[in-house]
Amino acid sequence: MATPRKKAVARPAETEAPVKVDIAGGIAWVTLNRPEKRNAISPALSAEMIRQLDLLEVNPEVGVVVITGAGNAYCAGMDLKEFFRASDPLSAEEKAVFSRASAQWQWRRLNYYMKPTIAMVNGWCFGAGFNSVVSCDLAVAANEAVFGLSEINWGMIPAGNVLKATVTTMNHRDSLYYTMTGETFDGKKAASMGLVNESVPLSKLKKRVTDLAKILLDKNPTTLRQAKHACKRVISMDWDASEDYLFAKIDQMRFLDPEQGRQKAMTQFLDEKTYRPGLGNYKK
Ligand code: COA
Repeated sequence: MATPRKKAVARPAETEAPVKVDIAGGIAWVTLNRPEKRNAISPALSAEMIRQLDLLEVNPEVGVVVITGAGNAYCAGMDLKEFFRASDPLSAEEKAVFSRASAQWQWRRLNYYMKPTIAMVNGWCFGAGFNSVVSCDLAVAANEAVFGLSEINWGMIPAGNVLKATVTTMNHRDSLYYTMTGETFDGKKAASMGLVNESVPLSKLKKRVTDLAKILLDKNPTTLRQAKHACKRVISMDWDASEDYLFAKIDQMRFLDPEQGRQKAMTQFLDEKTYRPGLGNYKK
């Protein structure tokens, strides 16, 4: 039998901003900041995420964006009260407008963000929490994190593109299993299914994500952006379209890359013999 929940006690009203941003050493740490609600996504949190993502995208001090959650949760999905219950009485048109902001940042904006993104899954991650995990370019979870497609447990399906995010990363059998059972799984299992890149003990999570971010900060930012966008775009293209798109990207890079990294790298490898592309990045 399920453990009964504690009787609700009065808790202090939320006073802090629903999203917290700290910038250090080129990394923007973006924290979903409603720990008392397990960082469930409210309309206010969505609006603030869109605002912060816009600001960080053009901030020259930021090279990598990390998304994580305050307290013991990454994100407990959409806020059942402020999102679902609040939108139940709305018309179809009003619902579309109401939902747009949450879709905006959770997958549309993050999927094609101009800077590299990492999801740092520190704890509970349910339903819509999967969206930002999958839409970030890379994801690292704590072994102790708990994931679940809980929608089946409360008369919902994983909508809002949660199911699309899930089947894009996990295999078909696993997607069906967790969608249909609503069973939870931990960070190690998430990594073994491809939902995240890897999992590490919670005590080592921030260090691992910092190290990963530093690797990305060392790359040519223009190349990195084109490479990650290409990786996401070619999935839905056929082979002909993909080949054409990728050659066009190479042409585009010649004009877009202020570092002219390709020329620099070829000079360093072929002429100066100062580095090996197979073993690391060219010297900037
Ligand atoms: N929407 C709205 N409120 C939520 C929420 C959500 N998705 N997830 C948690 N909360 C709120 C609870 O209502 C509670 O609020 P209260 O203090 O006003 O009563 C508070 O956050 C703490 O939740 P609680 O269940 O007591 O915390 P817990 O640590 O024991 O359990 C979870 C954590 C994540 C397992 C549990 O909160 C849960 O099952 N949440 C729903 C997850 C879900 O199904 N999300 C899918 C949405 S698409």
